[in-house]
Amino acid sequence: MPPPSPATKEAPPRVVNQLTDLQQAVAQARQAGRKLGLVPTMGALHEGHLSLVRRAAAECEATLVTIFVNPTQFGPQEDFSQYPRTLEADLQALSEVGAGLVYNPSRESLYPAGFSTYVDPPHVALRWEGEHRPQHFRGVTTIVLKLFLLAQADVAFFGQKDYQQACVIARMVEDLNVPIRVCVCPTVREPDGLALSSRNRYLNPEQRCRAQGLWNSLRAACQCVERGERDAAAILGQMREVLFENGISRIDYVALVDPQTLEPVARIDQPTQALVAAWVDQTRLIDNLRLEPRNPTGRKL
Ligand code: PAJ
Repeated sequence: MPPPSPATKEAPPRVVNQLTDLQQAVAQARQAGRKLGLVPTMGALHEGHLSLVRRAAAECEATLVTIFVNPTQFGPQEDFSQYPRTLEADLQALSEVGAGLVYNPSRESLYPAGFSTYVDPPHVALRWEGEHRPQHFRGVTTIVLKLFLLAQADVAFFGQKDYQQACVIARMVEDLNVPIRVCVCPTVREPDGLALSSRNRYLNPEQRCRAQGLWNSLRAACQCVERGERDAAAILGQMREVLFENGISRIDYVALVDPQTLEPVARIDQPTQALVAAWVDQTRLIDNLRLEPRNPTGRKL
């Protein structure tokens, strides 16, 4: 990997497809004693992804972005074959944000014939996405651990947008003593609040308009808490109502959960994570927001 300098921040990243090339580049970076940041992605990059790469480039001396649409995390009825693949545009975008190296492997190199070992995800994977997308987190933990082993990075950057995924990975790293630091970065949103997502590309203008309902439901939850509502059932009812008002009727879940365990809470007496997953016609979207109740003096509890 070339050493970072103002010039390399503007330069196109080096792209490697082969495992051996990746391992060689990683070994070089490690030999040079450079702090290495890893940003795993499935491509179709947007400002959310790029914010992670910028953060990695700011904190680390070398940045590795992986682009791989991981088949094992998609269910049989899901959008694996349809998932947007925009490698050229992705590389163009990455050349502007300081990614030194891009790993874009083939399916066969990461899942060769006979592949049959998977990582059993932690408990925090069981509910929510885990319930609605069976095997999804098994695919995520497996590919992410493989990427961690290959990259041997010092820090890995993930988005809060996929809140449960970040919790699952953090727990896996702790449970399996993986020598990497997990850094979770804020969700990047459109001006109207919609969280950026590669799947937003599936939406036509009318659906894009309804998709704002997810953010509106989270904001409604936040406003309930600000008004002093502490009853989770009442807030969840409000969130569902806002989704319906926005033309979203197929809701996988709305939930108010403990931010660490992701277990549902009955009252909002502590900081709480609001989660939502819903469909805009054929497109499934997820989002989340931290709710911070305040005591009567206005201090966060
Ligand atoms: P992907 O959906 O491409 O997302 C890659 C990373 O970008 C994840 O850490 C995700 O949380 C983050 N991200 C997505 N949208 C974001 C937004 N609006 N703001 C901030 N960060 C955002 O998540 C995956 O890929 C895969 O599951 C992966 C971890 C790569 C394993 O295959």
